[in-house]
Amino acid sequence: MKSSAVVIAIFLICFGSRIIDSIDTVTYPGYGTFTSNDFKHPIYRPIVFVPESPDKIGPLFLLYTRQNNESQRLDLNDTRLQLEQAGFNPKNPTWILIHGFNFHSLKPWMNICKDRLLKSSDFNVILVDSRHSEKGVSYPRAVSNIRIVGIMIGKLIEQISQEFSNDNPGTFTLVGHSLGAHIAGYAGKYLNGTIDRIYGLDPAGPFFKNHPDHRSRLWHTDARFVFNLHTNGGSIFKLSSGMMDTCGHVDLFMNNGHQQPGCPKEIQNDLTFNSCHHRRALWLMIEAITPDNDQQPKPIGYDCDSWQSFEQGECIRDCNADPFNCVRLDPLNDGRNQSIEKNLLLNSITTGRRYFMVTGNEEKFFRYQYLIKFNMKYGSNQFSGLDPVLRRITLRIRNPKNDRYEYIDLTDWSQPYVDIGKSYAISLYSTLEMMKNNLEIRWERFLWFKRQRMFINSITITSLSCKNCVWPTPTQIEMIPVSNGNDTTNNGIINDEWTTFRLI
Ligand SMILES: *[C@@H]1O[C@H](CO)[C@@H](O)[C@H](O)[C@H]1NC(C)=O
Ligand SMILES: *[C@@H]1O[C@H](CO)[C@@H](O)[C@H](O)[C@H]1NC(C)=O
Ligand SMILES: *[C@@H]1O[C@H](CO)[C@@H](O)[C@H](O)[C@H]1NC(C)=O
Ligand SMILES: *[C@@H]1O[C@H](CO)[C@@H](O)[C@H](O)[C@H]1NC(C)=O
Ligand SMILES: *[C@@H]1O[C@H](CO)[C@@H](O)[C@H](O)[C@H]1NC(C)=O
Repeated sequence: MKSSAVVIAIFLICFGSRIIDSIDTVTYPGYGTFTSNDFKHPIYRPIVFVPESPDKIGPLFLLYTRQNNESQRLDLNDTRLQLEQAGFNPKNPTWILIHGFNFHSLKPWMNICKDRLLKSSDFNVILVDSRHSEKGVSYPRAVSNIRIVGIMIGKLIEQISQEFSNDNPGTFTLVGHSLGAHIAGYAGKYLNGTIDRIYGLDPAGPFFKNHPDHRSRLWHTDARFVFNLHTNGGSIFKLSSGMMDTCGHVDLFMNNGHQQPGCPKEIQNDLTFNSCHHRRALWLMIEAITPDNDQQPKPIGYDCDSWQSFEQGECIRDCNADPFNCVRLDPLNDGRNQSIEKNLLLNSITTGRRYFMVTGNEEKFFRYQYLIKFNMKYGSNQFSGLDPVLRRITLRIRNPKNDRYEYIDLTDWSQPYVDIGKSYAISLYSTLEMMKNNLEIRWERFLWFKRQRMFINSITITSLSCKNCVWPTPTQIEMIPVSNGNDTTNNGIINDEWTTFRLI
């Protein structure tokens, strides 16, 4: 409460004169009339400016193709001939990449994304570069200005479609990060939702989340198919750049959708819209459009109300049973094979659905996903919650090909294990497949000289991944820890020794 009072006070000091000002109005022919009252909301968008003029804001549209790896500038009034001379091929699908709000002008992800797209197929890739108009612009003003940027992108698509209307032009896909996701939304609104698809990469939260007017932000009606990745959603008081709201046909919350593994914990977020958590959405997307490696597990999300329920294993259903149970982040193949999308569009109930998945902490992010449930033995007091002996719990998985191990440190989660008689569920990822005979566990204690035991009745491993298949059917195995050939259920697991498992 204290922090909210401070924030409001700062708003009033900085913008109080604005708030009591009369309403500004501006009209830009072809764009419409805008006021400083549009989408204003006392909590969710307290400050609104009229947007600056299209001439001032005017982003650069840079076209790249396989034939043309030097960028060609496109103009809103380009004719068919000019577009063709720039290398635009109407038969090919077009991808438009849009960056977010950032005072640093470097947007390396756009080039990487562009290169991966062109490597995978013959596309028209257009980068929207509006950094020059962004310099020194405050966030509230940028939020107002992006309405114009969105309309300009809409006009560009409209122009291209008109110039090539006889050629049955290819699809248009917009990929926008942060504020760029909402820019894609405004472009889609201008085109009355006729764009083929929008990927919103951690759509910006401040001034958008919870806003009751859907015209103010990206929404599922902005394209035939709107797919969002969330990596840094959460409260503005936690300085999250993204949002936990759903606003697409599919909203995929990576890990918890709030913070990402492998990102620094101490500075969890920042307000520069440049945090590791917020940028992770970009690298996930880039990995997803990297030409297919069939040996990689596919990024599959599971339909679930919350991360907690997902981790508890309450949402694990067969992806093959119902097309709404799961979603796959596979932009290149979805684009070619529209049947997945059609499944999703059959029924508007997909709107607002939340999907969850687990990723790695660094590339390759898409690994084998597992849920592991530790069923602790009930009634034992040899491993007391009051005894701070537990130092670390580690799992290791043996690679049968080379007998090397991958280690998974469960220390972050280990505290709850000292509660006896409970079950604990953990979501995990690994580069190796966990099988019935390649998993071991070890726990360490602080006082090495005193042998202690940990009592686990069983563990349940649910595999959520899909390697050589279209959709996974989750499989589950239950095992008990075994030490030197003896079950540990009665005598417990001794510390500092690797303990194997056997199927029940
Ligand atoms: C552009 O293409 C030319 C010829 O195909 C190639 O030599 C050059 O390295 C490419 N440049 C970039 C930046 O990819
Ligand atoms: C197209 O627009 C540009 C500015 O974006 C302008 O300089 C140029 O004259 C216009 N061309 C035509 C043919 O209208
Ligand atoms: C969108 O719909 C409105 C209202 O029906 C119409 O006036 C406008 O021309 C449409 N825009 C496009 C780009 O089709
Ligand atoms: C398209 O997807 C459907 C269902 O997801 C699958 O059965 C079919 O084999 C796919 N077709 C191609 C060409 O990949
Ligand atoms: C396994 O159990 C047997 C029989 O209870 C016992 O004699 C043996 O010492 C145990 N082995 C280990 C390594 O604890």
